[in-house]
Amino acid sequence: MTVKFFKLASGFVAFTAGLGMLSSVVMAAGDGGGQHFAKQSWSFGGVFGRYDQKQLRRGFEVYKGVCTGCHSMNLLSYRNLTQPGGPEYGEDYIKAMLKSDEVEVNLPHNDEGEIVNEDGDLFTRPAALSDRIKKPYANDKAAMAANGGALPPDFSVIGKARAMHANHEGIPGLFTWVFALVKDVVTQYQEGGPDYIYTLMTNYHETVPENAPKDFSLPEGKHYNAAFPGHAISMAPPLSDGIVDYTDGTKATLDQHAKDISAFLMWAAEPHLNARKRRGFMVLIYLAILSLLLYGVKRKIWEDVKH
Ligand code: HEC
Repeated sequence: MTVKFFKLASGFVAFTAGLGMLSSVVMAAGDGGGQHFAKQSWSFGGVFGRYDQKQLRRGFEVYKGVCTGCHSMNLLSYRNLTQPGGPEYGEDYIKAMLKSDEVEVNLPHNDEGEIVNEDGDLFTRPAALSDRIKKPYANDKAAMAANGGALPPDFSVIGKARAMHANHEGIPGLFTWVFALVKDVVTQYQEGGPDYIYTLMTNYHETVPENAPKDFSLPEGKHYNAAFPGHAISMAPPLSDGIVDYTDGTKATLDQHAKDISAFLMWAAEPHLNARKRRGFMVLIYLAILSLLLYGVKRKIWEDVKH
């Protein structure tokens, strides 16, 4: 029974590892018109990975300075920016920021039950730490109308939602999913989302490049981006050298901005990564000690038995 079990288990491991390797080969072969999702090195990669708090702050500065004009973060509250394992701003810092930016939230009605004031505007109050991060547009229709019919996606989980794009270029349809899943499980790779966002930010071309797919023509009002599926994206290049000044004095390059915003978006999608990885590590230590103890016990019990 045990032998059979081990045979089955090792067969399964070999099978999944094989699939994982095969998918890497297929990926490497995919061209995709100039796409290249080189894996970046992230402070939060691997078993011991942790977010770099300074980088998350820089990422927030990029979000606040640029992306917030079009992209909402509906699942995040201002308070989240102060919590452990994130940018860890002081509460006073965020409160002061809300005040100086004059961020206001709409009220459903005033004390008298009126919905709008005499000018027809909604009633407002100053934003508090417990409020969700203010969205740039009142609703999706308004967002699309302002962006040539394209909807800037919400940023709450995009750091994870786009992981598939980066890891599995060049493999079509359902296979993409199967390979993707198996490969990520086998390799334990979880940074495909930030890799994709970084690549998206740094792969705009002013004119359609020579290695674009055959017969590609860029529709009016769109931009060529080698990383975007289909390559015609409605978003104009949002980043350029020096577009925000970092308060920590880091040199403000396009590349730096792209790295920092990608890390920030990963944190937004997975705010508890630091704690999760620490727990995982403790479990490994626990299992290692347990194994040693069990081995010792086993030796003790069988000590006097001849075999
Ligand atoms: C002027 C408005 C605007 C700004 C500013 C902006 N975006 Fe966008 N973004 C868009 C629109 C519109 C889309 C949808 C594009 C499409 O579907 O063709 C989009 C899509 C995206 C996507 C999704 C791409 C995909 O795979 O579907 C990402 C990621 C993104 N933006 C990142 C950013 C980042 C990071 C910033 C800030 C540095 C930013 N955007 C700033 C308008 C904007």
